Amino acid sequence: MDESRIASDASTPTESGSRLHHRHLLGLRTWSADEIRLVLDTARQFRDVLDRPIRRVPTLRGVTVVNLFFEPSTRTRISFELAEKRLSADTVNFSAAISSVTKGETLKDTAQNIEAMRIDMVVIRHSSPGAPQFLTQCVDAVVINAGDGAHEHPTQGLLDLLTISDRFETLQGLNVSIIGDITHSRVVRSDLYGLTRLGANVTLCSPPTLIPPGIERLSDGGRVRTVSRLDEALEGCDVAIALRIQLERQGKTLFPSLREYHETFGIRTEHLERHPDLLVMHPGPVNRGVELESEVVDHERAIILNQVTNGVAVRMAVLYLLSGHGEEVA
Ligand code: CP
Repeated sequence: MDESRIASDASTPTESGSRLHHRHLLGLRTWSADEIRLVLDTARQFRDVLDRPIRRVPTLRGVTVVNLFFEPSTRTRISFELAEKRLSADTVNFSAAISSVTKGETLKDTAQNIEAMRIDMVVIRHSSPGAPQFLTQCVDAVVINAGDGAHEHPTQGLLDLLTISDRFETLQGLNVSIIGDITHSRVVRSDLYGLTRLGANVTLCSPPTLIPPGIERLSDGGRVRTVSRLDEALEGCDVAIALRIQLERQGKTLFPSLREYHETFGIRTEHLERHPDLLVMHPGPVNRGVELESEVVDHERAIILNQVTNGVAVRMAVLYLLSGHGEEVA
C-alpha cells in the first residue's frame, strides 16, 4: 500500500499485509476476515486524519465519485459525501426525486449516461435488492452498495464492527444480540456476515413474524441463534444492536401495536440497570420510544453517535481501497 497517499504528513503506516480481492463492495457475504480487518485497520488510520486540524488528504485527487441515492438517507449519504471530500475526490450527488428517473428513465440508462461523463466510482442506495450488482453489469466504474432493499448495507456492517472493536480487545467469542425487524433489515445481514466472520456469537431476537426461517444458516464462524424473548437476548450479552422498525417496508402490521412492541422488545433503562456492562447500538434513524426508550438513546452506554463518527472513516477506507490507489485490486 502506498501510505503516502493516506497522509499528507507523517502518520502510522498500515500494518496489515492483506489486500482486497473484490473490485466492488456489494455486500459482506463474500468478504474474508482478512479483507474486513484491512478495511478496519485502514479506517483507524483515516480516523487519525479526521482528528487533525486539517481533515483532508490528497488521496483521491482526480477521482470522480457519483452518489446515486434512489432512497432517502441522512447518515449514509452525508457520510459518503464527507468521506469523498476528505479524500479530495470530485463528487456529484444524484437524487432520484429531482432527476429524469421521475420521467421514466431506467437505472441502466441513468447509470450509463452518468458514466458517459467519465466517472470512476458509484455509490448507490436503492430500494431493490441486487440493484448494485446489476449496476456492475452496466458500467465500468467501481460500485459501492450504500444499502439495497432488505439485502445488505455493507458499510454499516463495517462501521458497526469498527465501533465494537473500539470497545473490546477481540470480537472472538463476543456475544452480540440484534433485536428487532430481522426480515426487513439490510443491516442485519451485513452485521451477521461481518460479526460471525470475526468470531462473534450472534443472537437474533424478534417477534416470530419478523424473522425469516433459516437465517441462522447465514453464520460463518461464530454461533448464531434465534430467540423470541428480549430477556433471553440480553442475558450474557456484550452489545445489543437494536434495529429500526421499518413500517414503510412491512406493507402490513406484523405486530399488534408500536406500544406493545416497545413493551416486549424495546430496550429500556431497566435493562441497562440489570445489565451494567451492556452497550447499545442502533444504525439509525431511531424511532424513540419504540426500539429504544428515549433515555436509552441518550445514555452514556448508547454508542450510536460513535457509530456515525466511525462511518466517515470506514467509508474513506472503502473508497481508498477500492479506488485502486492503494492495494492492487483483483
Ligand atoms: N444507517 C443508515 O443507513 O441511515 P440512513 O438511512 O440515514 O442513511
